[in-house]
Amino acid sequence: MKKILLFSAVLAFGIAAEAESKDLPPYKDASLPVETRIEDLLSRMTLDEKIAQLSQYSLGSNDNVNNNGEMAKVLPPEIGSLLYTADDAVSRNVMQRRAMEETRLGIPIIFGYDTIHGFRTIYPIPLAQGASWNPELAGEACRVAAQESEDAGIDWTFSPMVDIARDPRWGRIAEGYGEDPYLTSAFSAASVRAYQGEDLSMPGSIAACLKHYVGYGASEAGRDYVFTEISRQTLWDTYLPPFEAGVKAGAATLMSSFNDISGTPGSANHYTLTEVLKDKWQHEGFVVSDWYSVHQLINQGMAPDEATAVEYAINAGLDMDMVDNLFIPHLKNLVDEGRVPMERIDDAVRRILRVKFMLGLFENPYTEEKPESERILLPGSLEVAKELAVESMVLLKNEDVLPLKPGQEIALIGPMAKSCRDLLGSWCGRGRAEDAVSIFDGLSVAVDTPVRYAAGCDFEGSDMSGFEEAVKVASESDVVVLCLGEKYSWSGENASRSNIALPGIQENLLKAVKKAGKPVVVLLASGRPLDLTRIAPEADAVLEIWQPGIMGGPAVAEILTGKANPSGRLSVTFPYTTGQIPIYYNQRNPARGSSQGRYQDIPSTPMYEFGYGLSYTDYEYGEIELSSDSLTADSRITARITVKNIGDMDGKETVQWYIRDPYSTVTRPVKELRHFEKRLIPAGGSCTFEFEIDPMRDLSFVDCKGDRILEPGDYYVIVKDRKVRITLK
Ligand code: NOJ
Repeated sequence: MKKILLFSAVLAFGIAAEAESKDLPPYKDASLPVETRIEDLLSRMTLDEKIAQLSQYSLGSNDNVNNNGEMAKVLPPEIGSLLYTADDAVSRNVMQRRAMEETRLGIPIIFGYDTIHGFRTIYPIPLAQGASWNPELAGEACRVAAQESEDAGIDWTFSPMVDIARDPRWGRIAEGYGEDPYLTSAFSAASVRAYQGEDLSMPGSIAACLKHYVGYGASEAGRDYVFTEISRQTLWDTYLPPFEAGVKAGAATLMSSFNDISGTPGSANHYTLTEVLKDKWQHEGFVVSDWYSVHQLINQGMAPDEATAVEYAINAGLDMDMVDNLFIPHLKNLVDEGRVPMERIDDAVRRILRVKFMLGLFENPYTEEKPESERILLPGSLEVAKELAVESMVLLKNEDVLPLKPGQEIALIGPMAKSCRDLLGSWCGRGRAEDAVSIFDGLSVAVDTPVRYAAGCDFEGSDMSGFEEAVKVASESDVVVLCLGEKYSWSGENASRSNIALPGIQENLLKAVKKAGKPVVVLLASGRPLDLTRIAPEADAVLEIWQPGIMGGPAVAEILTGKANPSGRLSVTFPYTTGQIPIYYNQRNPARGSSQGRYQDIPSTPMYEFGYGLSYTDYEYGEIELSSDSLTADSRITARITVKNIGDMDGKETVQWYIRDPYSTVTRPVKELRHFEKRLIPAGGSCTFEFEIDPMRDLSFVDCKGDRILEPGDYYVIVKDRKVRITLK
């Protein structure tokens, strides 16, 4: 990288003379290479102008309560970035015009926003997307989000969130793709590619931001913003892979995390920000802090004052300060005092300018102000949102109740049945409840038979006065669809819960409607795995619908009526009870086998494991066939398995390939997902799925320095209950 910059600087010098003769400073000449333009611009900037580029303020109101209290009062047009919270591009254009026309150098502002699972067309939360096992489809949804965001004046989304989370008490488990590094990496890369397109400067592309770098999901006991204990080996093994995958896919930016990583907070961590990200992975974009996370170095007991917090953060490798407003007051003095080297400032400025040039902001700083009808909730966008919702729903139990039979009269009961806002989940961009189709509305248009509604109770509390009506409605119908779940505010940021069971009133409603003697289908809308010990045994069928977004109602209707065959598989384990947490599939072996060391009062297996999910059809798996049962580090072998759809409905099946490394110098999990593929198998048809095993990629592991190690010996290739041995020579 340094070589490129040195070369560019020399090149810039030569070209500068030529370009200036045409009165066009080289940095404004789009025909020149980006690195040349960066060097030219940097050479013209004062220290104050550089520091302004490293600062992000906010414009508009941020409706996340955790971010309140930090509205930019005075917006200097030299500012590098704005966190932009408007529905359209009008204020952006006003502000951008000031940056372009009222400042000495005319450097465009980059406008960022939390488009997490949609801007206005809200699609399922990331945890649900993970359960689709369909990163390409999630990518299509990201394309929709990018287009709507861009049309509203946004250049940069603070997404994808690729934190591995294994504690469902943590509210932010909703925002990531689940517990597995491999699956999350696939979604990380797919969403980065989709947001950014092939060329960041093309219409419909916005910059992605991998967050929260790194280890935020390891929050102790699921509490938010707290300490995380992460050994270097676990950092490399579990938390870094999705970031590495996103960086390799070209992510322009990352966001440093709030958490204290074993003694060094994410926003002041030289190892992760510089040694890993910039040196080892050669990332050339920039890192923005999380909201106020530089200031929080004081709360975390690292920096005694604001200036020191800035010093630690920037010297560690942080490039942009999100709304702390600390860089402008402190950074100049720190440079003057020799506490922050000028090279570090220049490096950070270069990185930010690079992303701005790549986005084409110097050439196209403004956004066309289109009417809403041309830019949001477009028919194709709604279709993608519905497809993704359908594919993310997981059928957890089905005792011959689903799909509903034609002509069945339905009792639709429960606090979730008519709720629209709760279908959207947390961090739902500019999404509005009135855009969403409720379960009631979705189902009512999908069936010809009566849909009888009763709320039964609220999400929580002790008011059981609606139970009687609910039981009456159930008695008058052939089948009960009971809509339970979490309010949208129960998950997301700063929404930890000590208990992941639903409030007792909802469990009691289930018991009450059971008395009507009709089959009961429980729909669960949630932003986390739930404790279902008192729900699953009572229900005849259970469908996890997550927080499915604005097309949740129609998606539910398609699955209930059998128009769509459920194909979601859990991307996160559902514990048997809260007390089992943390429980995840890729644990290490315990020291003692047999039954020792297990809980004495509850089962030691989860309620539903990672990868689990039912379908309306049955699949018959053949045996795993190998092109060879031995290989060397440089060779490849292919494993194949044929899956037959032996039912009478077409279905999408995901074949999950796991590897087990029984003995190695750093112990390995009992099994690890290494490959997956989801394909449509027509009723009566079959498909052969393949996994080409590349030893370095699929059989190796990382040590505590992030170096890959490949050890000869036996490994197992596992698909469902099939297991074959291969030998690495
Ligand atoms: C805080 C959150 O942790 C982060 O995910 C989000 O992107 C920023 N606030 C900006 O809103």
